[in-house]
Amino acid sequence: MAGKVISTGIRYTKLPESYIRPVNDRPNFSPVSECNDVPVINIGAGDRRLISKQIGDACRDYGFFQVVNHGVPDEVVKKMEKVGGEFFRLPVEEKMKLYSEDPAKTMRLSTSFNVQKEQVHNWRDYLRLHCYPLDQYSPEWPTNPSYFKEYVGNYCTAVRELGMRILEFISESLGLEKERLISILGEQGQHMAINHYPVCPEPELTYGLPGHTDPNALTILLQDTLVSGLQVLKDGKWVAIKPYPNAFVINIGDQLEALSNGEYKSVWHRAVVNSDQPRMSIASFLCPCNDSVLSAPDELIKDGSKRVFKDYTYTEYYKKFWSRNLDQEHCLEFFKNQQ
Ligand code: OGA
Ligand code: NI
Repeated sequence: MAGKVISTGIRYTKLPESYIRPVNDRPNFSPVSECNDVPVINIGAGDRRLISKQIGDACRDYGFFQVVNHGVPDEVVKKMEKVGGEFFRLPVEEKMKLYSEDPAKTMRLSTSFNVQKEQVHNWRDYLRLHCYPLDQYSPEWPTNPSYFKEYVGNYCTAVRELGMRILEFISESLGLEKERLISILGEQGQHMAINHYPVCPEPELTYGLPGHTDPNALTILLQDTLVSGLQVLKDGKWVAIKPYPNAFVINIGDQLEALSNGEYKSVWHRAVVNSDQPRMSIASFLCPCNDSVLSAPDELIKDGSKRVFKDYTYTEYYKKFWSRNLDQEHCLEFFKNQQ
């Protein structure tokens, strides 16, 4: 079992065969540009209409943006980063007590993406937690480091609030009532992935995460402040999103693409690794209530336009998502209406 995670503390000198991608599917197969223009939006001050317009433009053009002045206290973020780092530095035997390859588990340490389905593995370990309702799930969280539950719990609460505010802005940006999307999404679940990408001996041959879209509604990503690795597909080219101080990276997941009737895109993104420094990223996922029906609101279906997607529940979607490999076609394709 212990051979399965890669955060063992031992430095690899050679990339194991099972991680090597085919030549036409490697990080540098196509040129990557440094992106300076994923919008950075100040959501803590100014005119509400202007902020939602900026967010709407970013959702349409990039599917990604960064937010600053976001209201999550600096101390809460710092503590989250500290405990995430410490967790992955624990002895491998200690971490392996939490190991599982079953996506249905609500708390697990795992590696790569979907070990049982994929052909090539990815240079990533991750701790995945369900976070809402907190008092239901935090009892099963790790107890080592001793302050894990406290720090992570505070972070989850603050990030959820931020996510809800952003959903309100997104709703308004589509011309909907502020609460409209939140009410369709129902009592949202919240998951977290603490991603750890160890130093990789041959980073040009593999990914931390291959290109994928997020299956949930909204993702709030805390990037490593020092080490970059996130890349987004924009107009057919991969662009790197450099860490921006005190910002969160926000992206539209598949469910917001569906609810916007395809107007906002859940875009492909990936994580690359490097040979100098480990990288951590902390992704928080807001997920629709399992039995809410993901159907674009009537207000958006006008002027003879049609619903791009079928009506489906999040349970149906999530099942489909995890039954596939990550780097296949967009999962939303399976839910499209015939035009
Ligand atoms: C994810 C993800 C990117 C990163 O966890 O879904 O896209 O930079 N992470 O780790
Ligand atoms: Ni993602």
